[in-house]
This record gives sequence, structure tokens and C-alpha cells, in this order.
Amino acid sequence: MNQSNQSSAKNLNLRAQVVKTLLAVQNGQSLASVLNQHINIVSERDRGLYHELTLGCLRQWYSLKAITLPLLTKPLDNEALESCLYLGLYQILCTRIPVHAAISETVNAAKQLGFEPMSGLVNAILRRVSRETDEFQTALNNTHGLPSWLFKRLKKDWPDQFDEICQNLKQVAPLTLRVNERQVSRNEYLDILDEEQIDARPCILSNVGIVLEQTGNITHLPGFEEGGFSVQDEHAQLCATILPNLDDKVVVDACAAPGGKTAHILERYNPKKLIALDHDAKRLLRLSENIERLALDQTEVEIVTADATTWQAEEAVDCIVLDAPCSATGVIRRHPDIRLLRQSTDIAQTVALQHQILQQMWQQLKVGGSMLYITCSILKVENEQQMATFFAEHSDAEEIKIEADWGIEQTYGRQLLPYLHSGDGFYYCHIKKVA
Ligand SMILES: C[S@@+](CC[C@H](N)C(=O)[O-])C[C@H]1O[C@@H](n2cnc3c(N)ncnc32)[C@H](O)[C@@H]1O
Repeated sequence: MNQSNQSSAKNLNLRAQVVKTLLAVQNGQSLASVLNQHINIVSERDRGLYHELTLGCLRQWYSLKAITLPLLTKPLDNEALESCLYLGLYQILCTRIPVHAAISETVNAAKQLGFEPMSGLVNAILRRVSRETDEFQTALNNTHGLPSWLFKRLKKDWPDQFDEICQNLKQVAPLTLRVNERQVSRNEYLDILDEEQIDARPCILSNVGIVLEQTGNITHLPGFEEGGFSVQDEHAQLCATILPNLDDKVVVDACAAPGGKTAHILERYNPKKLIALDHDAKRLLRLSENIERLALDQTEVEIVTADATTWQAEEAVDCIVLDAPCSATGVIRRHPDIRLLRQSTDIAQTVALQHQILQQMWQQLKVGGSMLYITCSILKVENEQQMATFFAEHSDAEEIKIEADWGIEQTYGRQLLPYLHSGDGFYYCHIKKVA
């Protein structure tokens, strides 16, 4: 946003600012890439509300769309007006904002954004919904809330779990921490939180995980600066429990940035060498900062900016962690903009990239070593089916079955779905090189 755009944006009301952000996402920009810039225009007092309205609308986007369509005699064909409507409906149906304020602020936003002639329509629709909130709330809850391509894929992949997946993907994910065991045990940190009157509970599947009952600024939590914990989803924390003992081993974290799993490995093991590789130098900078904050021993860590489809190891590698680029359909709760950004045509490209990285990395692994393939996707084509192709192409590969009481066993690997009050969608498959 240039300076003159910024100063004219400052004159808009909060709802219009939210609509501007929603438009940026509709135009293909990720929320992370626009949020900081957009939120700076909003007064500090309103930032919490701006955040809640933006994320909430994206979370309910296709549900709001589904219940709005029957209210229109013809398609609006106008993304800004549609966004105003969804924002108005979201406030009426999903927040405690007084209805009159929700309607008048949203109608004003439509006017401020240059749609005065159509603001009457926005007003009429929002008033109708406000008179029939129960019916519209039920309708909203009954929608699957997914773009049609994702609806079809998930219905095919998970017919028995489909309804639950759709409902869970609309929820807010819990804020989960991983304590840094090099500094503090989980029980000790739970006591510290308790002393500060911060409500928290231990995770069930991860023995270093803690779920906070309220959200807030994590940098204000005790021990943040000293590196007492990281923010990491519970199901992502399971990576370190599947890996073999990595003490004195040569390990490659093949898609490492921003370093959640790299740091967890260093908290748990003392590898002979840990190569943290990623093609994104900016994200690797965050990896360095994270390892630094956590005060982990970096002497044996090598951070490498390289393309995992071509990178070659200079020595025999004992273990590879391949947390592959994926559709991120398992983490939609944390990144609700994925609903709008991800297109069906992206999937084949992502599957092809995963295949290429798998091929290249497998060649770097020594016989007797193992590779842990991970995605935060819930699409079988990136997970079970990707692994079926891999095993068909590699007679020197054997699956090491993950014996666990979590997730759903697949023909190859184990799948975790996003669960209410619990972890995100993740997939793990552990592979041994036998020849
Ligand atoms: C799922 S994220 C990794 C998350 C990380 N393991 C963690 O736990 O914090 C996937 C990563 O793959 C990286 N990536 C994508 N394509 C790549 C490629 N061809 N070579 C290397 N890294 C790649 C992305 O930059 C991204 O950081």
C-alpha cells in the first residue's frame, strides 16, 4: 500500500478496513503477507476486533456465501459488496456485537468503499437476517464451509469422518506450546503458569505439550525471552516421538524452516550433525532466530539454503526428516485464508514437488537409515497415495509401522485429522532404507 492509499485508508471505518483485507485475500495474497501492513492502519484500541472479524469471516467464508446466495435475486458480481455482506452476517450470527451497530457500521463501510447506491441492499439483507437469526444460525452451522473442489476431495477421502472434519475445520485451533525440556519440565512450566494465574492443561498425546485455555500475546508468557517454550501444534510435536534416537547421528531436516521440528530435535537429542535445509532464505532466518532464542546448542547445526529437489549430501546421512511442502489442508483452522487461496489445480503441482523431493532425499540416505515423511495435509493424494507410489518405485524401502494409539492407520503411514480442542491434521510415514 503506498502512502496516499494509506492515508485514505485511515479515513475508513473498521469494517471497511476488514473488507479491504478480505479483498486482498480474495485477490490471492496470503493473510500473513498483508496483515501487518493493514493492521497498522487500525487504531490500537480496535486491533483485537479487526483481527477477530477478519479471521472469523475467512473461517466462515463459504458458509456465509452459502446462506447469502438464496437472499440475492441475482449474483452481485462485486467482491467488495459480497465481503460487506459476509462481514455483516458474521457479526450478527457469530459475535456479540449489538445488531444495530453491526448493521450501521457495515452499511457505512459499503458507502465509504464507494458503493452508496448498493448500500440499501446490504442494509435490507442484514436486517432480514437480524430478524431471523435462529434460522440463519442453523443454516450456517449446517453448511460444510468448503470450496467445492475441497468438499469433493474430502468427501471422497474421508466419507465416515467428513461431517466432523468440516465442523472442526471451522473452529478456532487451541494455542499449544511445546516446553523446551533443556530448560524446564512440563510440570514445572505448568506450575509457573499456575502461579501467574494462566489457565493451561497438559496435552494428551505429546508429553511436552501444553494447551493454553486463553489466547493472548505469547511473548508476554513467562520464559518466552529465555526460550522456555515454542508455539507448536500438538500433532506436530509427535514427530520427535516417532524418530529413532538421533544422538551422534547425521540428520537432515530437508524442509526445515521456520524450524519447529529442527528445534524439537535439538531439545531432545545431540546429533553429530544436523543439516537444516530449506529453499527459502527468509524463513531460514526465522529458524536461526528460533534456535537462538531457545538457547540450543548450534555447534553441530548447519543451515543450508538449497533446493531439496537437487541438493546432495557430502556425507552418509542416518536420518532424514522430510516435512514436505503441502496443501496445508490440515491447518486451515490456523490459516483460514487457505480456504480461499488454495485452488484444486495447486494439488497436482504440490504432489509432483513432494515426489521430486522424496526421490532426491532418498538418494542421500544411507542403507540402514530412515526417513520420516510428514505433511500437514488431510488429502490422501499427498499422503497415503504419495507413499504407495514411493514404495512401488523403491524396492529398497520398507515401512517402519508407527505403533501408536493416535491417528488412523493407513495402508502406508498414519493420519491425524484436526480434532476439536486438539491438534491439526498431520500425516506421518516412517521408511527404512534396507538395501
Ligand atoms: C511444512 S513447511 C516446513 C515446516 C518446518 N519443518 C517446521 O516444523 O517448522 C515446508 C517447507 O518446505 C520448504 N520448501 C518448499 N519447497 C522446497 C524445496 N524445493 N526445497 C527446499 N525447501 C522447500 C518451504 O520453504 C517450507 O519452509
